[in-house]
Amino acid sequence: MDTVIQLGYLASAVLFIFGLKRLSRPRTAVRGNLMSSIGMLLAVVVTLFNADIVSYWVIVAGLIVGGTVGALLAIRVAMTGMPQLVALFNGFGGLASLLVGAATLEEALDLANGADLDVEFLSTAALTVLIGSVTFSGSVVAFAKLQEIWRDLGNPTVIRAANIGLVALSALLTVMIVVGPTSWWLWCLAVVALMAGVTLVSPIGGADMPVVIALLNSLSGLAASTTGFVLGNSLLIIAGALVGASGLILTFIMCTAMNRTLVNVLFGGIDTGGVVANGDEIYAGKITSSSADEVAMILDTAERVAIVPGYGMAVAQAQHAVRDLTTALEARGVDVVFAIHPVAGRMPGHMNVLLAEAEIPYEQLKEMEVVNPTFPQVDAAIIIGANDVVNPDARENPNSPIAGMPILDVDRARTVVVIKRSLSPGFAGIPNPLFALDNTLMLFGDGKAAVEDISTALAEL
Ligand code: TAP
Repeated sequence: MDTVIQLGYLASAVLFIFGLKRLSRPRTAVRGNLMSSIGMLLAVVVTLFNADIVSYWVIVAGLIVGGTVGALLAIRVAMTGMPQLVALFNGFGGLASLLVGAATLEEALDLANGADLDVEFLSTAALTVLIGSVTFSGSVVAFAKLQEIWRDLGNPTVIRAANIGLVALSALLTVMIVVGPTSWWLWCLAVVALMAGVTLVSPIGGADMPVVIALLNSLSGLAASTTGFVLGNSLLIIAGALVGASGLILTFIMCTAMNRTLVNVLFGGIDTGGVVANGDEIYAGKITSSSADEVAMILDTAERVAIVPGYGMAVAQAQHAVRDLTTALEARGVDVVFAIHPVAGRMPGHMNVLLAEAEIPYEQLKEMEVVNPTFPQVDAAIIIGANDVVNPDARENPNSPIAGMPILDVDRARTVVVIKRSLSPGFAGIPNPLFALDNTLMLFGDGKAAVEDISTALAEL
């Protein structure tokens, strides 16, 4: 039976790896997801053959409760609430590792009855408790912050100093478990590491949470991997390592696209040391307001249009209205593409997910490196609720707080239409000189209503 289980695990691991590979391309992502899901199903089924299982009833009850909660969450959570949900999932992964690591260590201590335990087992069990605890409490805080139910613990500098102390204490307790394992050290480690998770995430700016969630995701993978060593389960080691590595890669992709370092995100807030320009000076007398009718007339004569979605499109839930406008433009022979910035919105792939939900074909979604050289040939760039990702200051002003952040070069299009409710800044909190350019028209209003108005005006032309 053990051979069957190990072969099943091997097949699952292969399915995970190929599934993950396919997830990197929109065209193959659905198949990749399916492959990985089959891999997980296979892993669960062969694990049920394990002779050490004491009670199948507990497992069935867990499946029913967990499956029901998972299905309800997946159906009910709105797209804008997805980061919170992912945070919770990471947290549950961390909690599972913490419980398994602690229970296994407790059992081993009981059985050993004072005899020496294997150093490798002790160190991986202690690491599992440590990483699982940090992941669990950090993810719960991340969830609470995104849900806006978290109250800050106090001065961020003090909390960060406390965090460094708690991390150092956790490391010391980990060593204590390896050299002289006791139940007492184990639960001290769990408590201190839980506090370290809280103090790690609490001072981080709420809007930086997606980067932190990617990092916590990576940590949950690492915790699963160390759990695999504790249990001697090869599939858990492989799957955990895959989650750990992909979470870390995603963390760095997000940091690079925001031109920030991970240290800056974790310990420095949004301030990158640049000079914040005065919005009044930039905008005074230079803003050209427009109307849906005027924008429709511009689109009527356009041959090539680039739609640039941002966080405001998610807030307005304008993706379906955007799809209808795209269909109307294409019916008039206009070539429409979507310019996607890697950190537009508030979570990785945010825009891709929303546009896919509105059934906009993947082929129309162009990544920043692909679409940027084409902007000079674009007749109209329509920006829907995007701000920082189209701020030319990042490219042109070395003193800007977002200097060096890669942006979509929309200002190079013939006409730029910016749809947003006001001149308020975006996530970075800085003004955007794009709004004051000669070729920019501001269409003030809610993203969904404004796009619907343009479609109506276009139909009447
Ligand atoms: P932002 O720069 O945040 O700007 C969003 C704009 O949407 C705001 O200026 C807001 O202006 C507008 N808006 C809000 N509600 C709206 C509505 N109902 N209708 C129309 N407009 C609306 O967005 P972005 O350009 O997508 O940039 C994303 C930012 O988030 C970047 O700075 C990025 O570094 C950061 N970030 C991203 C991620 C990921 S992974 N995507 C993670 C962390 C941080 P009004 O209030 O005037 O309407």
